[in-house]
Amino acid sequence: MTGTVPLLEVTNLRVRFPTRQGPVEAVSDVSFDVHPGETVAVVGESGSGKSVTALAVMGLLDSGRVEGGSIRYRDEDLASVGTKRMREIRGEEIAMVFQNPMTALDPLYTVGNQIVEAIRLHRETGRKEAQQRAVDLLREVGLPDPERRARSYPHELSGGQQQRVMIAIALACNPSLLIADEPTTALDVTVEAQILRLMRTLQRDHGTAMLFITHDMGVVAEMADRVVVMYAGKVVEQGRVEDVLNDPQNPYTRALLASIPSPTISRDALMPAIRGAVPSLLETPSGCRFHPRCPEAFDRCPTEEPPLFDIAAGRDSRCWLHDRTPAGAVRGRAAGPSGEGASALGVGRAG
Ligand SMILES: Nc1ncnc2c1ncn2[C@@H]1O[C@H](COP(=O)(O)OP(=O)(O)OP(=O)(O)O)[C@@H](O)[C@H]1O
Ligand SMILES: [Mg+2]
Repeated sequence: MTGTVPLLEVTNLRVRFPTRQGPVEAVSDVSFDVHPGETVAVVGESGSGKSVTALAVMGLLDSGRVEGGSIRYRDEDLASVGTKRMREIRGEEIAMVFQNPMTALDPLYTVGNQIVEAIRLHRETGRKEAQQRAVDLLREVGLPDPERRARSYPHELSGGQQQRVMIAIALACNPSLLIADEPTTALDVTVEAQILRLMRTLQRDHGTAMLFITHDMGVVAEMADRVVVMYAGKVVEQGRVEDVLNDPQNPYTRALLASIPSPTISRDALMPAIRGAVPSLLETPSGCRFHPRCPEAFDRCPTEEPPLFDIAAGRDSRCWLHDRTPAGAVRGRAAGPSGEGASALGVGRAG
């Protein structure tokens, strides 16, 4: 995607929440961008800061605050535009689909009316015209008999149909960027596949850029052009999906990939593939945040925090195994006697 100007450019984003035990930093120094028409996946285990990152972009942080960095969308910094402007941008420019459609839909209104409201909030459109557009959108997201469906209340629809309605609402104003936060985790596998296919088709037809949040590397493979891997509030690896999936450079990415679902393993059995749990943000580990769980950790990891190493064009990884400076060569395993780290990572390979 070189050559195009990014639509969204998040730079050194820091988000903090006040808690009773003191402030917690849910997102620390996160940078990535999304170009027009491309899909960027953000992947990581529960608590890694994926949703907080998305909510920061949407200006929906609630008690949280952007403490540093910038969120550039076209030529505005979303971290500093006022609430009025942010309300315009939400829906009109950037729309979001959440994990649980039932909590996002209003049980008291028909789904048709909710789409009409979304249209009229941002566009001066007559009621009749908006109603027609609502029916068209319901047809586009694949709901059978859309005229009748428009008169349904959310509880009369299945989970998959509700999520189709949420997608219709998100698309109502033709946003340039769609943020989808685990939009299929509440659905069963067959319906998930249908919704993912729908989102890909719509994205292609409308040329919408997408920030797609998931904890499932299988979904990343299916949906995204590029992937940002997060752990405990930090980006640990990013790059083009095929590069990262075929040749993961960060031990955390490798662990996530090892836990990709297979037809014989239930989703719930997934995460235990990585030993231990994501640390509490109140007590983030010293040094590399992943070191207590990392199968490749060595003496440097508990004491010094690794930077994001620029390991190839458009490819970064936060791990001391990439350090080729004299300090890394002396202390890192990459240059150690066994050469184990080097071979596992392909360190030293050209490019
Ligand atoms: N309102 C809040 N108040 C305090 N801390 C919060 C709040 N929201 C999020 N956090 C903190 O931010 C961390 C990251 O949360 P986030 O929701 O972004 O995780 P996630 O990566 O989306 O996880 P999941 O896969 O479970 O959705 C949480 O572990 C939590 O400690
Ligand atoms: Mg989340």
